[in-house]
Amino acid sequence: MDRASDFESLRERCLGCAACPLAATRHNVVFGVGDTRADVMFIGEGPGENEDLQGEPFVGRAGQLLDKMLAAIDLSRTGGGIYITNIVKCRPPGNRDPKPEEQDACIGYLREQVQLIEPRLIVCLGRIAAQRLIDPGFKVTRQHGQWFQKGELWMMGTYHPAALLRNPRQKPEAMADFFALRDALTGQRR
Ligand code: URA
Repeated sequence: MDRASDFESLRERCLGCAACPLAATRHNVVFGVGDTRADVMFIGEGPGENEDLQGEPFVGRAGQLLDKMLAAIDLSRTGGGIYITNIVKCRPPGNRDPKPEEQDACIGYLREQVQLIEPRLIVCLGRIAAQRLIDPGFKVTRQHGQWFQKGELWMMGTYHPAALLRNPRQKPEAMADFFALRDALTGQRR
């Protein structure tokens, strides 16, 4: 099978997943959106209410802010080069943090997405993704914008856009991280 059909069969497996209790309360599995040959993947924590209803990541207020930040570095979810997904693919009720056992049940889908997409860079949006993918002790306020090498991959954590809505004073720091991302991407496009 080729990569595209591997990706499609992964998506279909994920859409039918019942590996954790979040399956019982979801409206839609939120698998991911974007370019399956992306240079950079953005990874949030899990779908919220709007994402659960629409089946697409980052479509609520936080997502609108993410789209603006992407536009500032000439990227968009439909323009190629990026893929957006989450640590867990189903909404935790009431938008609570995904539990470790829910993350454990779901992380295999993300690993397969990364293996098939083969991005060069990963940006973790917020603490949950950064602690899961970069370092369990990751502190966003102290370590945002730093690059960590994992094999062939370079990963960065930055502020979650929902946190920026709550605390807009952190927006300039987050934008500096996005500009660092733009610099890292320059000259690396396939
Ligand atoms: N917050 C996330 O972490 N992911 C989404 O998809 C939406 C909001």
